Amino acid sequence: MKVLGLCCGRKNGNTELMMTEVMKGVRSVDPAAEVGFVNLQDTHIQACVGCETCMKKKLQQDFEFRCVHGVDKDHFHFIEMQMRAADAIVVSAPAYNLLPPGIMIKFLNKMHASGDYRKITQGVDICKVGACFSIGGTDWTDYIPNVMRMITMELVGVYDGVVDSVHFDFLPSFQAVMLEPEIMDRMFRMGVNVANAVNYKKKTGKNAEYQGMEGICAYCHSNLLKVDSEGYVYCPQCNVKADVEVENGKLKVRFTAQELEKSRWAPYGQKLHMENIGKGHAKAAAGAEKIRENFSTNYKDLVKELRLQVPALEK
Ligand SMILES: Cc1cc2nc3c(=O)[nH]c(=O)nc-3n(C[C@H](O)[C@H](O)[C@H](O)COP(=O)(O)O)c2cc1C
Repeated sequence: MKVLGLCCGRKNGNTELMMTEVMKGVRSVDPAAEVGFVNLQDTHIQACVGCETCMKKKLQQDFEFRCVHGVDKDHFHFIEMQMRAADAIVVSAPAYNLLPPGIMIKFLNKMHASGDYRKITQGVDICKVGACFSIGGTDWTDYIPNVMRMITMELVGVYDGVVDSVHFDFLPSFQAVMLEPEIMDRMFRMGVNVANAVNYKKKTGKNAEYQGMEGICAYCHSNLLKVDSEGYVYCPQCNVKADVEVENGKLKVRFTAQELEKSRWAPYGQKLHMENIGKGHAKAAAGAEKIRENFSTNYKDLVKELRLQVPALEK
């Protein structure tokens, strides 16, 4: 089996050491496993500029297209090829401002430019196995475990493919995780869980059971809730409605199976999303003349005047 890790913390830092334990766990199940990780801090990823070319190509079923930046201008394509070859992907991140570091998001933003990558990863029988972990220097980390599971799901295709996820707080110093044998044991176990899930999928064609941190939402395991303007409560990651009651001052949250099926990440939500993108582009195409006229009459000069010129940098 082939297991690929993605890191984005310090070189030889906590998350790289934890990832090493994960890979040791994989090898304990399959000594012949091909394992390795890419630290995004070693890479150059050009930021997505939002041109939407890759999305439009996808809507036209053109899966050969790659980012307008070119496949040899940054390391995105290299990582995409590593991911395509992998049976499992383990994603890790330290918290930076309660979130994964920008380089991880920059990488994620390029995923639309990966041709048919999503097409091959989506689907229970062909999706990859995923796992993720994150850490914080303190406990200012409320969003990151949820975002990490979402990133991992994006890379493996479906939430059902994410077999493990864990988060640890209060690890601010370089390599301090080596003082925490319980954390390192848990990381080793993540590797075992990942390798077992790959073997299980190869044998049965099914996704292994989720072994990670439990949250509130039964679909994405998030522990976040949003309240809309009418007072209804939702999982903000899946956009599914919850039934809530307060018992002894504690909130009880329940999601019905019907609601969970409407998760934005389930086939229902994915189809709706693609239709909405298609509708949006079709509306803009139909009104192209109006947009052009309005822009040149009311905005072109003013936008140019308002946009601050940034100084040129020395090469
Ligand atoms: C720019 C930056 C922002 C950070 N923001 C947070 C934060 O919001 N919450 C937190 O708990 N730790 C935060 N940290 C601390 C890191 O998560 C912590 O140092 C971690 O051990 C780094 O992992 P590494 O050794 O794998 O690089 C931040 C660190 C940096 C460099």
